[in-house]
Amino acid sequence: MNKFLSFLCCLLVYNVAYSQQMGSKNDNLNEPLASHKSGKIVSLTDSNEILENRPPEFAIIPEPVSLLKTEGQFTLPENVVIMAQNSAELKPVLDYLQGKISIPTGHFVSIVGNSSATATIRLVLNPKENHVIGDEGYQLSVTPHLIIIKANKAAGLFYGVQTLLQLFPKEIESKEMMTDIAWKMPCVEITDYPRLGWRGLMFDVARHFFTKQEVKQYIDAMVRYKYNMLHLHLTDDEGWRLEIKGLPKLTEIGAWNVKKVGDFGTFSPPGPDEPRTYGGFYTQDDMKEIIAYAKDRFVNIMPEIDVPGHSLAVIASYPELSCTPGAETYRVRSGEKIMDWSKGAPPIALVDNTLCPANEKVYVFLDSVISQVAALFPFEYIHMGGDEAPINYWQKSDSVKALMAREGLKDMHQVQGYFEKRAQKIVESKGKKFMGWDEIMNSDMPASAAIMSWRGMSYGIAASRQKHEVVMSPQTNVYLDYMQSDVITEPKVYATLRLGKVYEFDPVPAAADAKYIKGAQGNLWTEQIYNIRQAEYMTWPRGYAIAEAVWSPREKKSWSNFIGKVEVQFGRMDIAETKYSPSIYDPIFKVSRSADKQLMIDLSTEIDGLDIYYSFDNSSPDRFYPKYTEKLTAPKDATQLKVITYRGKKVMGRMITMPMDELNKRAGRR
Ligand code: ACM
Repeated sequence: MNKFLSFLCCLLVYNVAYSQQMGSKNDNLNEPLASHKSGKIVSLTDSNEILENRPPEFAIIPEPVSLLKTEGQFTLPENVVIMAQNSAELKPVLDYLQGKISIPTGHFVSIVGNSSATATIRLVLNPKENHVIGDEGYQLSVTPHLIIIKANKAAGLFYGVQTLLQLFPKEIESKEMMTDIAWKMPCVEITDYPRLGWRGLMFDVARHFFTKQEVKQYIDAMVRYKYNMLHLHLTDDEGWRLEIKGLPKLTEIGAWNVKKVGDFGTFSPPGPDEPRTYGGFYTQDDMKEIIAYAKDRFVNIMPEIDVPGHSLAVIASYPELSCTPGAETYRVRSGEKIMDWSKGAPPIALVDNTLCPANEKVYVFLDSVISQVAALFPFEYIHMGGDEAPINYWQKSDSVKALMAREGLKDMHQVQGYFEKRAQKIVESKGKKFMGWDEIMNSDMPASAAIMSWRGMSYGIAASRQKHEVVMSPQTNVYLDYMQSDVITEPKVYATLRLGKVYEFDPVPAAADAKYIKGAQGNLWTEQIYNIRQAEYMTWPRGYAIAEAVWSPREKKSWSNFIGKVEVQFGRMDIAETKYSPSIYDPIFKVSRSADKQLMIDLSTEIDGLDIYYSFDNSSPDRFYPKYTEKLTAPKDATQLKVITYRGKKVMGRMITMPMDELNKRAGRR
């Protein structure tokens, strides 16, 4: 038996053992679904596939809890009958599945109630709850003539449908009819349920506004990977994005700035003549439509109103909410520098972008905003921000000094703590739970305040031990605004975060009190993201990795298996017309200096099996150019290094042109 074969046998045994282990908790799960008793398990894949670098036969993301391949293939008939009980609960799942199958295949897809008709696909709500799969799990059985998905709740059926779609050929993702496709899939038995209940992405629609249609498009992509939470960052220095009745200036003034492009944070300050026409906002009716769209796809929308910092759009609209005299001259930020971060956190504000914690009008304002937000969003939490609030203007403010004396507040942490506690009371008075970024832990918040840990995981770990509910979203692993590849190819932002580092993310670290970790999310900040195509590019494939972190059992995660699946998902996203980053194929540049100060250039790739070809003569390399095998030294007068990656004869990476000056700068002084 060769090495690969023995590895595959182990895999198969492992899978069977895994499902048996689960079955010991609930016999139901160990049992094949009704029509499947004779389903023989065959191998997961064969060794030749791996030897020839063919894509994996099953490329489901997130990896299911258990998948057993059985004998035979399912072929979609011309007349597809989806059978399910007729209920309002199942309607969104049925409508979704009907659309997803009928549009690309052109087959006639009908929905019938439980009847004697012959079904092609049966969706079954378990009459008796299956405790192992919970509210979002499912069992999927594919046999040659019948597909059955069983779940306790409609959400589970929806996730079963997502898995089913990933078993079809990639053309199932087409928005138009595809001809000459064999709509087949291998027979399988899958049992699956999520590791964590909060599986989120945050979309910053404040730095740049994204239309209602674009938000729906973002939701469409995320549900394929079983995300159930979209956190909308609705307010920031660059824009207020939600209609609030009775506070019209928030959207008349606060939603608009001057369009600038280039390197965000360094833009020239807008002049008085530059039109403030860039931006937008959601009416409450728009937001209801987004919420309903998300709900039909089992996604909750969590609103974030980011206060007391990040509030320049509010101050520009209602300057009386600032502690600082002269705030009447403030304008919504258009990407010009407003903070000095050179001394670390908290930043030194160059304009006061905070709400005044010592001004009662601020709490009246928040009450009005939160009443409407609470009425609009059904989700149980409201996120109130709390991050990166500068204190230098508060330190100068007489009203803040008076507040400190009156309330016995010793420092600015306690001043922010006073604000947060009042904000929490307002949120709770509307029947909602309060969540904030981890800076709110700087003061003694009640355990009922939930924490979103972003400055790494340590704040989340500490909060969980203090019995705060925690959502992990550490910048170290899941900040989707960070670059995925070398800064030479990407719009420049604060840091680089490659796919491999995201895949390492474990949202429940050993030091945390696991029962308080609700889940995790990736955060897509949009300072440097100007359009929805770039928002997608930044989200995928890193969003696949986060989906596995929050859904798949920790023991089932494997980088090499994952990467094979990523490439298959790229093909599906091509058909779905969703943009993704191909940066896994790009070379990684590392530089050093030899003992005699020569520049040494080390090239590598994030994934195995790629060859790197290069040139120093300014022409564009292909696979007939020198292949990279060891560290390079550059010819004396070379001005640039050009590189490209191939897999065999196929171009995989982008042509990257790296100036020698840049490499010399990175390597430090000669
Ligand atoms: C954050 O990234 N400032 C929460």
